[in-house]
Amino acid sequence: MITVSDLQEHPLDQVHRLIEPGPVILVTTQHRGIPNVMTNGFNMMIRHAPPLIGCTIGPWDHSYTALRETGECVISIPGSELAETTVDIGNCSGQDVDKFREFDLTPLASQQVAAPLIAECFANIECQVADTALVDAYNLFVLEPVRAWVDPSRPHPQMFHHRGDGTFTLDGETIDLKDHMTKWQYLL
Ligand SMILES: Cc1cc2nc3c(=O)[nH]c(=O)nc-3n(C[C@H](O)[C@H](O)[C@H](O)COP(=O)(O)O)c2cc1C
Repeated sequence: MITVSDLQEHPLDQVHRLIEPGPVILVTTQHRGIPNVMTNGFNMMIRHAPPLIGCTIGPWDHSYTALRETGECVISIPGSELAETTVDIGNCSGQDVDKFREFDLTPLASQQVAAPLIAECFANIECQVADTALVDAYNLFVLEPVRAWVDPSRPHPQMFHHRGDGTFTLDGETIDLKDHMTKWQYLL
C-alpha cells in the first residue's frame, strides 16, 4: 500500500501548476476611451445564478487600474487557434502597445459596458465589478456577468489551460456522466 513516504513533496510556490483553474481568458477594459486587453489564467466561477466570476488581476497590469477606475470589463474566451496570440498579449502592456491593433483583434460594441467584445473569441461575457473587498488583499475581483455572447458558428470550440510554466493543455475528449448527476439534476 502507498504511504506518504512514497510521495514526492511539491513546492508550495508551484501549487498553481497542479490546479491552475479554468480556461485561459482575455480580459478587455476601456480606460479613458482607449480599449485594452490582457491575458488571465487565474480565474474561477464563484456562483451559478446570478453568476459571479473571480479574476485575479495584479496592480502590475494596466488593466488593474482600468478595472478599478471603470468597474467594467469583458471576459473573452479564445479558442486554441488563438493560443500563441493570447500568450503574446500577456507579455506586453497596454501602457506601451495598442494591443487590438498589434494583434489584429476586432473590437465589437458591448451592450452594457464600455469595454469591447473580441470578434475572434468564441464567447464574450460583459461584466461589472460586483465586489472589490478582496482586491487589496488578493488582487481578486469579483465580477458579475451582465450580458454574454457566443459565436453560433463555433459549437465545439477548444479552450486551452495554462499549466503555469508556459505550457498549455488543450481541451480533449468530452465524456458524458449525466447519469451520475443524480443530486444535481437542475444543472443538466
Ligand atoms: C498565460 C498567461 C496567464 C496570465 N495570467 C494572469 C493572471 O491571471 N493575472 C494577472 O494579473 N496577470 C496575468 N498574466 C499577465 C498579464 O496578462 C500581463 O501582465 C499583461 O501584459 C497585462 O497587460 P496590461 O498591462 O495591458 O493590463 C498572464 C500572462 C500570461 C502569458
